[in-house]
Amino acid sequence: MGVDALRQIRNLALIGFMGTGKSSVGRMAADILQFTFLDTDDVIVARAGMSINEIFKQHGEPSFRELEGRIVEELTRRTKTVISAGGGLPVKTENLTSLKTHALVVCLWASAEKIWERVRNQSHRPLLNEGDPFEKIRSLLAVRGPYYRQADVLINTEMRSLREVTAQVVHQFHMAQAAHR
Ligand code: S3P
Repeated sequence: MGVDALRQIRNLALIGFMGTGKSSVGRMAADILQFTFLDTDDVIVARAGMSINEIFKQHGEPSFRELEGRIVEELTRRTKTVISAGGGLPVKTENLTSLKTHALVVCLWASAEKIWERVRNQSHRPLLNEGDPFEKIRSLLAVRGPYYRQADVLINTEMRSLREVTAQVVHQFHMAQAAHR
């Protein structure tokens, strides 16, 4: 029996760049599967009692990443949960490895141009609030691509509605659960 056959698929984790629709798709998928929805950013904000912008400003990105890592550890105890992971979370290899022990990891993908189109009018993401945000998206996406591609499933969101992406995600989850039963 391969290592893969020993994996438990109790949860569904969505990874991918900011603006790829992880939270919207995650909420809809949780509804369909009748799972709990958990957004790692929401947990961090609730615990810190301040926005992500404030956490970055007052404590710095490393402190944010530490909080993120702690939540990833706690997630190993969950069942029937759809997890929407912050965009930078899978860049730490142990985070991705940990998610894979209990969840099917699905990456939502989009090009830098499409992401820029989706996030340009938003201001809650500190990494895109300074300098040239489009350039930042391109460079971060280039660095993160290899990590995102380690997901079990990669779904291009560009030509699909959120509903279609959700249907794909749920389908993949059902297939993975059947294969690991
Ligand atoms: C980040 C993505 C954000 C949030 C933080 C940092 C990143 O989450 O965790 O602003 O490094 O890509 P979303 O991907 O949910 O926007």
